Formats: sequence, C-alpha cells, structure tokens
Amino acid sequence: MQGNGSAYETIFTMEATPVKYGPGSSEEVGWEVKRFGLKRVMLVSDPGVVASGITPRIRELIEAEGIEVEVWDDSRVEPTSNSFQAAADFAKEGNFDGFVAVGGGSSMDTAKVADLIATHGGEIMDYVNPPIGGGKKPPGPTKPLICVPTTAGTGSEATTAAILDIPDMKIKTGISHVYLRPNRGIVDPLLTMTAPSEVTSSAGLDVVCHAAESYLTKPYNERPKIDDPDERPPYQGANPVADMWSAKALEYGGKYLRRAVADGKDVEARGFMMLGATLAGVGFGSAGVHIPHACAYPIAGLKHEWQPPGYPDDHPFVPHGWSVIVTSPAAFRFTYDAMPERHHEVANLLSGETIQNPDENTLPDVVIQLMKDVGAPSGVRELGYTEDEIPMLVEGAMKQQRLLVGAPKEVSEEDLASVIRDSMENF
Ligand SMILES: [Fe+2]
Repeated sequence: MQGNGSAYETIFTMEATPVKYGPGSSEEVGWEVKRFGLKRVMLVSDPGVVASGITPRIRELIEAEGIEVEVWDDSRVEPTSNSFQAAADFAKEGNFDGFVAVGGGSSMDTAKVADLIATHGGEIMDYVNPPIGGGKKPPGPTKPLICVPTTAGTGSEATTAAILDIPDMKIKTGISHVYLRPNRGIVDPLLTMTAPSEVTSSAGLDVVCHAAESYLTKPYNERPKIDDPDERPPYQGANPVADMWSAKALEYGGKYLRRAVADGKDVEARGFMMLGATLAGVGFGSAGVHIPHACAYPIAGLKHEWQPPGYPDDHPFVPHGWSVIVTSPAAFRFTYDAMPERHHEVANLLSGETIQNPDENTLPDVVIQLMKDVGAPSGVRELGYTEDEIPMLVEGAMKQQRLLVGAPKEVSEEDLASVIRDSMENF
C-alpha cells in the first residue's frame, strides 16, 4: 500500500446524500422538512411539475407542518446563468431558512445555486468551474436543501454539482463543491409515473452513462497526490466504494430501462430506475464522469435547433441524456485499451450476462442495442450536426478539462474529433 511520500493519491472520501426511498415516500416530505427545524422554505419547481399537481401536493404537505412555503416555479428545462440568477434573487429577497426542490435535475440544480448565493452572496460566475468561471469555493455550508426528484435521471439529489448553460459563451458547465450536496433526497418512483417515454429514455440513458463512465474513470490512486484537502476535487476517480454504487446502477439500467420506456405504468421498472438514478448519482458524484459528458455539453450548448419529441415544445434543445449517450459507444471503444477488464465488467453488468470472448466492441455494442431498444437518437447527426462542425464540438469539449482529466487515458483534440466522427451515426 502506498502511503505518505507517494506521487499518487492515497486517499479517497466516501460521501453520500442521506436518501429516503420508496413508493409513497414523498408523502413524508413535511415531516422531513420539519426535522431540519425549518420555518420558511423556498420550494423550487418548474411549470410542468406544477401543472402535474405534484408541486401543489408537496407544498400542502409542508404547510401542514406549520412551515411557510414560497413557490419558485420558473426553473427552465436547461437552466441558464440568467434563470439561476433570477432564482438566486428570489432566494436572497425571501429570507428563507431552507430550500426544497421538486422536479428534474434543472429544479434541483437551480435550488442548489439559489441556496448558495442566498447563503454566501457573490456572483454566480465567481463559483462556476474554471476556466469558464472563477472557481471560487463556497466559504462554508449552505442552508438545508431537501430534494424530491420527479425523473429517474440526473441523480442530482445525490451529487455536489449544478449544471448550467451559458448562452453568450455557447457552453454548458457547472458549479461543483461538496457544500452543494443536498441534505436529503426523497426518492419516490410514483412521481415519475407520468413522464413520457422519451423523457424516460433520455433520463435513463443518462443514468447508464453516469454509472458506466464512473466505473471507467481513472482510479483515484493513479492521479497526482493532493496535499491540501481543500484542493481535493469532488470527482476523485474510480474507487471501491463508487464502484459498488455504479455497478448496481448498471445492473438496474440494463434490466429495467427497456421496461420503464415500454410501459410507463410498470411500477417495478420505474422504481428500480429511480433507485438506479440515485445510486449512480452517488457513484459518479464520487468517481466522476468524463468523455461522453464532456462531449455532451457542446452538443447541447452550441445549437438550440432540435425539438426533441416528447418534451415541452417551448424551446428547442437536446435532452441531456441523449446528448451524453450518442458519443458513449465511440468513447468506450477509445478508452478500452486503458482498462479492458473493466470495460468487460460494464458490458456484463449492463447485459445481465457474461459475454464470451469480449473485445473493444463488446461494450459499445451493448450500449447501441440499448439505445435502439429505448428509441434514442442514432447519433450526433440526428441532433443537428454535420462533419464540418466537429472542430467546434471538439473545442467545446476540450473546455471540460475538469471532466476530461477523469478519462482513463490522455485525450487529445484529435482523439475527441475521431470519437465525435465515429458517433455521427451509431446505427
Ligand atoms: Fe448526466
């Protein structure tokens, strides 16, 4: 075992958001909020979730405990720096002592940032990951945040990151710090029952990618040693604890995503996908994601022309999970030689069987079959890009160095260009 004096990291941290899981668990939200001693909370949501009746019900349950609730329902499907700022202004003026988010990753991320700015002040861009933002660290913990996800996807209830789109710079990036970790997740699969099959497909493929990428990230003990604990990033690399969470999420994704997409009323499949999303959130929140997520940000951020089927038609965009999954087969073919065994393990977990004579195409083939079965777009071309735009996509992906350092091998601009070229049409 390596100890002090090693050039490589010898330490990893095990952290997980406390979670309450199960059908009906959201009915206990009032009791949970009260337990934190909160008197006045900002309830962050979006118009779709409000219209579904979920947000009013959550509000009622919290108010029943004698807690004041103000609803902010302006979260955008893909949050921007402006939509985060509007929520942060509302939070600052509202004098809240805690936050509750009900919705998808967008609402949870909006709540994280509103909480951060209301607690510590400063500008959003100060805290955004460098080189895009200032990379400032929150000076201390934020106020309590309780997350109630309504999609089985981002796992944001379990992570330390908030992702935003910066339209002026045509880039998606994030704020990432352990103080952004929600204090509690209430994960109730009954809240996902009305999600259309396309939303279930995209969100579920995001889960699969979180788990696969984190399982295939560069191990923590092959990274440079960090002497100042304050400098140790939340994404610390593959480690035995993250592996357990990611492996279980892969198993669930392979076994239940097809069923959840085919029949939205399949409570068992919905339940395992919801649990899988949270498990993957803990896994990637610890180990990190890399090439597919780095490529996904420019794919989603550069053009806003594609109107995804099944989503609200108020603005065109590429749903996150689909923007991630399209480059994953080529990315995993590229990373294969860095850790062949672990690629085989991911393929086995996802397919639910031990694949004989595996090679570099085994995992990509398993992923492509799953994409086909759940109606994912075939590749980068379907999302509106041509070969001429590859350099632009590469440039955007290269800005995600925070993620690319997690790839199990060095990634050059040429490597990314060939990954994206190979991802134009997966099938
Ligand atoms: Fe993701």
